[in-house]
Amino acid sequence: MLSTLRIAGRQAAARPLVFTAAATRAASTWSSVPQGPPDAILGITEAFKADKFDRKINLGVGAYRDDQGKPFVLPSVRQAERQVVDAKPNKEYAGITGVAEFPALAAKLAYAADSPALDRVAITQSISGTGALRIGAAFLERFYPGDKKIYIPSPSWANHKAVFTDAGLAVQQYRYYDKNTIGLDFEGMIADIEAAPQGSVFLFHACAHNPTGVDPTPEQWKEISRLVKKQGHFAFFDMAYQGFASGDTDKDAFAVRHFVAQGHQVALCQSFAKNMGLYGERVGAFSLVCADAAEKKRIESQLKILIRPMYSNPPIHGARIATEILGDPKLYQQWLGEVKSMADRIITMRALLKSNLEKLGSKHDWSHITSQIGMFAYTGLTPAEMERLAKEYSVYATKDGRISVAGITSDNVGRLAEAIFKVKG
Ligand SMILES: Cc1ncc(COP(=O)(O)O)c(C=O)c1O
Repeated sequence: MLSTLRIAGRQAAARPLVFTAAATRAASTWSSVPQGPPDAILGITEAFKADKFDRKINLGVGAYRDDQGKPFVLPSVRQAERQVVDAKPNKEYAGITGVAEFPALAAKLAYAADSPALDRVAITQSISGTGALRIGAAFLERFYPGDKKIYIPSPSWANHKAVFTDAGLAVQQYRYYDKNTIGLDFEGMIADIEAAPQGSVFLFHACAHNPTGVDPTPEQWKEISRLVKKQGHFAFFDMAYQGFASGDTDKDAFAVRHFVAQGHQVALCQSFAKNMGLYGERVGAFSLVCADAAEKKRIESQLKILIRPMYSNPPIHGARIATEILGDPKLYQQWLGEVKSMADRIITMRALLKSNLEKLGSKHDWSHITSQIGMFAYTGLTPAEMERLAKEYSVYATKDGRISVAGITSDNVGRLAEAIFKVKG
């Protein structure tokens, strides 16, 4: 018996290591976790990297690029960062609602410095726009007195559904984009707002709708506001592109400010990723317009209770930079100019793409390229046409026909127009 065991032991010791490791893996706690579906943007990045053509074009990027196609750090951000570093602040924790001066400055930017609503805005710093959405979603899930359901536009930023679903809300879509006109399906949108049960929550992109670049006009926003009020709905705004859309932070805040002026107690998510180029610094804010200062106090206490177990308190460096810019009149003016120059470059690239296509003799109507706004353009190209753009012309973007205008430069716009013309005519 002893000798049999010894022999078995020796055999086990002689087994190749690979076999033992595989046996350990089979017993993993996570063996039944399935592989997630491939990420569309990652797919573009990988295909783009693998392409050896030196004039390849990446229109899948979700961040601004300068006219050389390079990431851009705003000079006002560089200056603000220097001021922050020179002041040698400590690295202690911020409070739960963030860097002390930041939330009030963010509220002023969104709601206007002279807004009578400012003293009843409950606000907290957030981990950029996504974090703001997540706080807002959790707040609705805990406190919204009506259905725990949110209506988002069809289509919407891909992460909206995931954020709200993960926070425990049901997600439904309302009509928004009309693929026949490559524009707003205003009638469909109005009909869906009207048909939703009284007191429903509606998510609106405040400006530069992602992914379509299609926004309601001010007159249409007024109509939407009237209807939302009539139906007793709740407006939840996502404003990830203030200033980045038109180049004017006031103009881009029109919808939010109009709703507030009309008496809506809106929720608002702000991101400073795009308009300050603070992508990786994760600077944002979540706010709720309350009935009065006493309600604001109650709401802020509950926001703290919600945030504390999520991440305790937000990062400080990016919010200090944003605070420096928003709180220093000279830097603020400089920043407004820089936001405008980013927006203007995007608007110019849209116009150049359209005029290049027309010069090539395209009979297709490309007016949507310039009537849309913000970083993204919905070209109206089909998945098959997008595939040809990538395979035959080394132009990479998502299959839904969305291109990031930020990836277009004075240098590549001609080649891009030719590629689109060859694919679409
Ligand atoms: C519509 C919309 N909302 C929110 C965000 C959030 O971005 P971030 O978390 O980087 O601020 C984005 C980013 O692309 C967006 O397009």
